[in-house]
Amino acid sequence: MKKYNIGVIPGDGTGPEVVAESVKVIKAASGKFGFGVDLEYFDFGGDRYLKTGVLLSDEDMAKFGLKQAVLLGAIGHPDVKPGILEKGILLNLRFTFDQYINLRPVMLYDGVDTPLKDKGPDDIDFAVIRENTEGLYTGSGGFFKKGTADEIAIQESVNTRKGVERCLRFAFEYTRKRNKKNKLTLCGKTNVLTYASDLWERTFYEIAEEYPDITTDYAHVDATCMWMVKNPEFFDVIVTDNLFGDIITDLGAVLQGGMGVAAGGNINPEGVSMYEPIGGSAPKYTGLNVINPLAAIAAGQMMLEQLGEDKAAAAIDNAIKKAVSADIKSMSAGKMGYSTTEIGDLIASYL
Ligand code: IPM
Ligand code: MN
Repeated sequence: MKKYNIGVIPGDGTGPEVVAESVKVIKAASGKFGFGVDLEYFDFGGDRYLKTGVLLSDEDMAKFGLKQAVLLGAIGHPDVKPGILEKGILLNLRFTFDQYINLRPVMLYDGVDTPLKDKGPDDIDFAVIRENTEGLYTGSGGFFKKGTADEIAIQESVNTRKGVERCLRFAFEYTRKRNKKNKLTLCGKTNVLTYASDLWERTFYEIAEEYPDITTDYAHVDATCMWMVKNPEFFDVIVTDNLFGDIITDLGAVLQGGMGVAAGGNINPEGVSMYEPIGGSAPKYTGLNVINPLAAIAAGQMMLEQLGEDKAAAAIDNAIKKAVSADIKSMSAGKMGYSTTEIGDLIASYL
């Protein structure tokens, strides 16, 4: 029997609650489809930081690096100044393990409400591929004369040919493999970011030559937001830089019914990848057993797909679809008609 070495980071806020349901479903799938999972839990997050002052130790990094994949709940704590945990844990893991792709499917399940009038599951079905290790996220820049009237703050977007190219190549391959509309849209801001977006655009059309079967398209990021709301059916796969990808995937999550359903993968195709619900730690719902665990369950499903457990992944996908169309009333915390743990039970039972 195949056995996978999986890391689990429950993290902060509602992270542990949703991760527990995802693990429940993964275990149910492992029983049904005949594979084993060896889970190692990591206590990275705000609580440990507040107690010990440690964000990530060398030992943590060494252990993380041995995993075949990692499932993450959420990082972010109301008692810790914004930026510390995000940079020190989440971004540190993404960067250190070179998880250069952030893959975020935007898919409206049948039976789920979208705020878009007259749009349904056929219209809202695309994926965003966000570059995950560069751009405005590198922390390049600094202050000059901080705290004075002459203060200068510089925050630089770092775009390397290598980083851009590997992201674009992944996107072309992914679009081909997805095999739906076979269309890849580059999202940038070539009318203003005449260096960064220019590199992306040149590289994009250069690589496109190798993919004559893929239709290419370009949209500025502001227009992308408009089209996502007005005509989401235009999109198949969108590829973009780190910050634009961050922003448009929150918009995407809302189109697909909210943060409770949106999952993503921080992927290093040659290394350790980390899957997460993209909704964050939702402190106000912590411990109430009301948060929607579907995004975490879908993250677990993406992880099993990466591990090659296609049947298990497809079964989880079907179980989610069945539950959202037949049972779950709303995707919002507290309005689902079920508790967090009951949703985990329901999905596991449908397997
Ligand atoms: C996300 C989050 C992170 C990001 C934050 C928590 C640093 O918003 O995964 O989208 O900006 O990448
Ligand atoms: Mn985000």
